[in-house]
Amino acid sequence: MKKNYTYDDICLIPQMTHLRSRNDAKTVVTFGRNNEIKLLAPFISANMDTVTGPEMAALIWDVGGIGALHRFNTVEEACKDYLEVKKINPPAECIVSVGVHGYKERCEELAKVGAKYFVVDIAHGHSIAMKEALSWMKGNLRLKNGDKPYIIAGNVATPLAVRHLSAWGADIVKVGIGPGACCKTRIVTGHGVPQFSAVLDCAREAHRLGIKIIADGGIRNSGDIVKAFAAGTDFVMLGSLLSGTKEAPGQVITKATERGDKQHFKVYRGMASDSARKDRGKEYNGKYSYVPAAEGVKTLVPYKGSAHDIIMQLKKGLKSGMSYCNATDISEIKDCALYELQTSSGFNEGKPHILG
Ligand code: IMP
Repeated sequence: MKKNYTYDDICLIPQMTHLRSRNDAKTVVTFGRNNEIKLLAPFISANMDTVTGPEMAALIWDVGGIGALHRFNTVEEACKDYLEVKKINPPAECIVSVGVHGYKERCEELAKVGAKYFVVDIAHGHSIAMKEALSWMKGNLRLKNGDKPYIIAGNVATPLAVRHLSAWGADIVKVGIGPGACCKTRIVTGHGVPQFSAVLDCAREAHRLGIKIIADGGIRNSGDIVKAFAAGTDFVMLGSLLSGTKEAPGQVITKATERGDKQHFKVYRGMASDSARKDRGKEYNGKYSYVPAAEGVKTLVPYKGSAHDIIMQLKKGLKSGMSYCNATDISEIKDCALYELQTSSGFNEGKPHILG
C-alpha cells in the first residue's frame, strides 16, 4: 500500500545557495494560454464567498497574484463582480468560476463582459459532469475576441484524474481533496489524499502532459507554500490565509469579551458547509431534490486588517525559502529542493516553543 504525506510530514533540506540576498529570488510567474499575464507571485485567492469578491481580486493583482471570484451568486451578480474588479483596478485580470450546472449561460454572459480565465470548480472534479462541462466549454465557448477560453478545472487528487481533465480540455488542474482548513470531506466521505503527495504525483503527470497545476487547500504559512513548490506545483490557492481580511467579502463582527474589550471577526466557511448552502437556499430548495451531506464547516476568524500585508509577508517567506534551496526562479524550486520525512517531534521542534 502506498504511503501518502502532507506538508507537516516533510521538511526541506537546506542547500548551498548562490543567492546573495533573499531579494534575489524572483517570484514572478506567467499565467494564460500565451503566458500573457505576469503575476508578481504565484498566488491565487480561493473562489470562496468569504475570500474572493471584487475587492480581493483587485488587491491581489497589485500585490502578487490573481483572484478567483466565487460562483455562489447569480449570472448577473457574477458579471457585475467581474466588471467591478475592472472598475476598482482597470489593469487587473481575474478568474471567474462556474460549476457543472447552469454553466453554459454563465460562461457565455461572463465571456460577453470580457472574462478570459475560467475555473470549473466542484468538490469531486474527476466526474462525468466535469467531462461534459469541459467538452462544451472547449468546443463552444469563445471569448469576446474569438479566442478559446483558458480553463482551470478541479478539484482532483490523482494522476489519472489529471490525465482525464487534461484530455477533456483543462489547461490547469486544481489539486486538493480534503486538505482545506474548513473542509471535512475526509471525515464525511473517507476520501482524499494527503496534500504533499497529491501535489507531487499530480504535478509529475501534469508536466508530462504539458499542463499546469494549482495546489489548493491546506496552506497555513509560507513554509507550506515553499513545500508545495518543492512538490512541483505551478501556483498555490489560498483560502483561510486570506480570510478575515478587509478585502474578503462579509461584514466585520464585533464581540465584547468578558473584560469589556472589543474583538473583531469575520466569517470563514466551506462552500459545502450548511451555512453556505442555507444562504444559497434557492439553489438547493428549488432546483435539486437531493441535498448532500455537508463537507465543510463555518467559523469566525479574527479580523486581520488588509490582505496586502499578509500577501507581502507570504511573498517574503517564499523568497527566503527559495534562498534556502538555491532557487532563483519559482520554476527552479522543484528541481533544487530536497525533502526528507520528519517525525512529529521534529515537526514540533520547528515551531517556536519558548512561549509555552
Ligand atoms: P484553505 O486554504 O486551507 O483554507 O483551503 C481552501 C480550499 O478549501 C478552497 O480553495 C477549496 O478547494 C476548499 N474548500 C472550500 N470549501 C470547502 C468545503 O466546504 N469543503 C471542502 N473543501 C472546501
